[in-house]
Amino acid sequence: MSKVVITNRIPESAVAALRAVHDIDYYDAEETISREELLRRAAGADVLVTLLTEKVDDELLDAAGEQLKIVANVAVGYNNIDVPACDARGIVATNTPKVLTETTADTAFGLMLMATRRFGEGERVIRSGTPWQWGMFYMLGMGLQGKTLGIVGMGQIGQAMARRAVAFGMDIVYTDEFELDAATAEALHARKVDMDELLSTSDVVSLHCPLMDSTKHLINAESLKKMKKTAYVVNSARGPVIDEAALVDALKNGDIAGAGLDVFENEPAVHPGLLECDNAVLLPHLGSATVETRTAMAELAAQNVLDLLSGQPALTPVTQKTSL
Ligand code: GLV
Repeated sequence: MSKVVITNRIPESAVAALRAVHDIDYYDAEETISREELLRRAAGADVLVTLLTEKVDDELLDAAGEQLKIVANVAVGYNNIDVPACDARGIVATNTPKVLTETTADTAFGLMLMATRRFGEGERVIRSGTPWQWGMFYMLGMGLQGKTLGIVGMGQIGQAMARRAVAFGMDIVYTDEFELDAATAEALHARKVDMDELLSTSDVVSLHCPLMDSTKHLINAESLKKMKKTAYVVNSARGPVIDEAALVDALKNGDIAGAGLDVFENEPAVHPGLLECDNAVLLPHLGSATVETRTAMAELAAQNVLDLLSGQPALTPVTQKTSL
């Protein structure tokens, strides 16, 4: 039996699958485990099943010890894991791609609709009891039909976002290190461009890249200035891909029209300036938050562990690329 440390509450089916064959040390709570507790529990672990709220770095790997074989992250994003440090020690790091693709694209698309059609703002009017009246020019937003969506990171989630946008009559431009095959590009009405062209031609810019050194503050004061004044930015990837202070300035100065954010630079903190911006839609990191998807993510993480411990390759080892 191997020692499997699960660092937070995850869906029961995944815990049961692991418990059936291994010795489980389960931090069965919804609040994030303290660093102290994490370091203490990790000692002697063969497996760490982690969430995106746990930083997996040299300190934690040292605390676990040389027998540690796998870090199974229950998230597609892996910026909480020092992957080179795991590689250097022969520890396999895994994430949960594909199972959350459609759900996360739903969230990004919902943010785009909410921001461009001012649905959050409208809801606040009703809930606050603010007087209102139907009017020809009351709370007009931007329609999506015929507009251009710029997708930064055309991986699984970017492509799922593009499929939704095509159904709404949008054209797609994208950036990534790879190019879509001709049939997919045609089906998605998608054209590969460089970042400057994407910024200057898009009516909505949606981020679907992982957080890496090269994508930190990819959207900053300079890039926001390159966007159309009528454009929106949507972030369902990771908060630090946007320089939040620069975004607040751009939203307040009218450099762009609005933003839809599911993630923040210093979660769970939100830049106070964003709270003052009626043109920002703000969600508490709900990208993959459905019962079905969270269950599938946890079960995939458990399967990665079970496969690796039985001598097979893990199903979804982290592969570092420029899209999710
Ligand atoms: C959620 O943010 C994830 O990376 O799965």
